[in-house]
Amino acid sequence: MELLDIMLKRRSIRKYTHENIPSEKLNKILQAGLLAPTSRNRKPCEFIVVKDKKVLKKLSQSKSAGSAMIEDADCAIVTIADSDKADTWIEDSSIAMAYMDLMATSENVASCWVQSHLRSTSDNTDSEEYIKELLDLDKKYRIVGILSLGINDTRPPAHTLDEIDYGKIQRIE
Ligand SMILES: Cc1cc2nc3c(=O)[nH]c(=O)nc-3n(C[C@H](O)[C@H](O)[C@H](O)COP(=O)(O)O)c2cc1C
Repeated sequence: MELLDIMLKRRSIRKYTHENIPSEKLNKILQAGLLAPTSRNRKPCEFIVVKDKKVLKKLSQSKSAGSAMIEDADCAIVTIADSDKADTWIEDSSIAMAYMDLMATSENVASCWVQSHLRSTSDNTDSEEYIKELLDLDKKYRIVGILSLGINDTRPPAHTLDEIDYGKIQRIE
């Protein structure tokens, strides 16, 4: 599939069957995250692959809204970044998340980005702090988000080129 077709096909999918993601597909998704470029090639990102149902349930409560789907996911990839290694941890983590999201689509794996940074749980705990405590992470780690992954053969309709707002492009020639 051409990259543009994968970009059109990519949708946030929040409902999953209880099938497992084949390990070769999950490995490709992780390879995509590890291949993502980083500022000054500092590579601050690490990826925690969570399949344990109890931990998935806890991660599903990492935000007051917008994280519930993780409870039924086959797997969640928590993207953490060592902020001592790079002050560009937000950008580096976001690119890794986007690469993994696209690879998931290309592998027919359903995915949804769950924002952690700047969000809080229903009892007003900072979402990043909640996840750090849950996963016993050092203070230096920052968490842009979690990629929720599962299998779902019914995808929302693909995006189309007609949706593109070319008005957002300014040209200085
Ligand atoms: C930075 C970012 C944060 C997001 N956070 C969440 C989230 O916490 N929960 C959620 O259900 N979807 C989240 N999404 C998914 C967006 O809501 C979704 O991409 C957007 O509505 C467009 O829909 P589409 O992905 O199907 O094209 C996030 C997406 C991005 C890029």
